[in-house]
Amino acid sequence: MTGLKISPSILAADPTRLGEEIAQIAGEADWVHVDVMDNHFVPNLSFGLPVVRALCATSPLPVDCHLNIDDPDRWAVQYAQAGAGVVTFHAEAARAPVRTMRAVRAAGARAGLALCPATPLEPYEGVLAEADVLLLLTIDPGFGGQSFLDFVLPKIRRAREVIDATGADVLLQVDGGITTETIVACAEIGVDVVVAGSAVFGELDRAHAIRRLRAAAQAGKVAAGVLQETIA
Ligand code: DX5
Ligand code: ZN
Repeated sequence: MTGLKISPSILAADPTRLGEEIAQIAGEADWVHVDVMDNHFVPNLSFGLPVVRALCATSPLPVDCHLNIDDPDRWAVQYAQAGAGVVTFHAEAARAPVRTMRAVRAAGARAGLALCPATPLEPYEGVLAEADVLLLLTIDPGFGGQSFLDFVLPKIRRAREVIDATGADVLLQVDGGITTETIVACAEIGVDVVVAGSAVFGELDRAHAIRRLRAAAQAGKVAAGVLQETIA
């Protein structure tokens, strides 16, 4: 085990069988990632509050809700009240990120702040203490199945340093284009949570796909000297 959490995104799952899809990952995954999309912040429409409420009531895994939406100041707290374990919204869309993160926490969920690939980390370093999760997108949001944008790696590294330097209790999450190859660099940097949509639900055996991602992450940590080689 690497300690790296894996949060498969049901955007790539069969939408007619979400309950069964989550049951298939329940023994292997740590969280289940639900991409809420409003066709405004991103050019795609996915799940909304009623679906998230139903998933929270039945999922054996904590629901990791990523709001790819406008006006999160209005909506985020409702996803926390629906029972999500994590509610992450975009800094680019929020007008009152601190107030919104506080409202999410007060409603009993972890509060996450998300940044698109082109958004710099520096303006948000000060508010990180208000967050439980920092999600760095490695694709432009809106669709699964895109390629990991390598130019985000220095920002991920910088985020790891800032979180470690401040001692803030913030999980560093990476989302977009995660494969058995791209997870290696994330593990080397010391990312805490990775989201994987097509790399899990694009495979017939979802549990096996998660195990392969974990094995690749472990190899990355060994390569970085973070872990000792444990495989004989
Ligand atoms: C995109 C979403 C991602 C997406 C990832 O807006 O935030 O979570 O589902 O899909 P893959 O892993 O296929 O890139
Ligand atoms: Zn996402």
